[in-house]
Amino acid sequence: MKHFLNLKDLSSSQLEEIVMQAASLKIKRDTSSVLKGKYLALIFEKSSTRTRVSFEVAMNQLGGKASFLSINDLHLGRGEPLEDTAKVISSMADAVVLRTQSHDTLTLFAKHSSVPVINGLTDLSHPCQLLADLLTFQEFKGDIKGKKVTWVGDYNNVCFSYIEASQLLHFHLEIACPKAFWPSTEVVKRSGVKFTEDLSNSLEDSDLVTTDVWVSMGDKEDQNKRIKEFKPFQVSPGLMNKAKEDAIFLHCLPAIRGQEISEDMLKDPRSKVWDQAENRLHAQKSLLMFLLNN
Ligand code: CP
Ligand code: NVA
Repeated sequence: MKHFLNLKDLSSSQLEEIVMQAASLKIKRDTSSVLKGKYLALIFEKSSTRTRVSFEVAMNQLGGKASFLSINDLHLGRGEPLEDTAKVISSMADAVVLRTQSHDTLTLFAKHSSVPVINGLTDLSHPCQLLADLLTFQEFKGDIKGKKVTWVGDYNNVCFSYIEASQLLHFHLEIACPKAFWPSTEVVKRSGVKFTEDLSNSLEDSDLVTTDVWVSMGDKEDQNKRIKEFKPFQVSPGLMNKAKEDAIFLHCLPAIRGQEISEDMLKDPRSKVWDQAENRLHAQKSLLMFLLNN
C-alpha cells in the first residue's frame, strides 16, 4: 500500500509514469471496468470545486464509486477521534481523499488507515494539482526537464508542491515573492530553488508563469497586509511579455481577478487554465489507477 501525501512519496519515474498515463487516459474512451467495484471516500474540511468533482467523475468513469463526506456529516465533526474514523472508513473503502486544514491531520489519518490516503490539499501542499499542471505543461511545451518555471506571489501549498516537482523532474524554479512572505531560511535553503523579490528578472527566459491566490483558505489573519504587499506581483498580459515569447500561464483556480491576476489575464492566449482544470480529471484517474491497481 502506498499513500500519496506529497509528490515526494513518488519516485521521479513513478511521477512521470502517472503523467504519461494521464495523457493516454485523456484520449482513451472506454475505461469503465478499470476500477469496477472500488469505492473512494472523500473527506473535506474545506471547500472544493475541482478536486471534489474530478475525483467523483474519475471514479465514475473508471467504473467505481465515490462519496463526498463533509466533516459535519461525519461523527468526526462532533468529536469522534480521527484515528477511529480512519480505521472504520478504511475497513470499508478502497482509498480515501482528504482535504484538511492541517497537514498533521492528514498524516495522522494515513497512519491509521489500512488503504491508500490521498492528499486533496492541506496547509502544506497540494500534490494532486501538480499532476494536472505537469500534464498541461507537457501538452503545450513538451518535456519540463531543464525548463524555467516562475512562481509569482505567495509561497503556499501549491508552491510547496512546485518545489517538490522541480526536485523530482529537474526543472528550474524561481519564486518571486515579497521577502516578508518567504518561508524560514532553512526551508529556502533546503528547497534548492531561488527565492527573489526581483520579479522582472525571475520572468526572464521563463517557459511557464504560474500564480495562485494571495490569501489561501485558512489565511485569515493578515488578509489586508497580504493584498497590499502582493500588489506589484499581479500577473497580467503585460507582465507575461517579460517571459519567453511562447511562455504559458497556469493558475490552479479559483482565481481572483483584480488581485493575483488582472481582469484580462485568463482571456490571454497564453493562459491555459481551462485545459489545466480539465486535466485534474485525467490526472486523478491516472493517480487512482496507480494507487489501486498496482
Ligand atoms: N485547484 C483546486 O484544488 O481547486 P478546488 O479548491 O476547487 O478543488
Ligand atoms: N492556495 C489555495 C489553493 C486552492 C486550490 C488555497 O489553499 O486556498
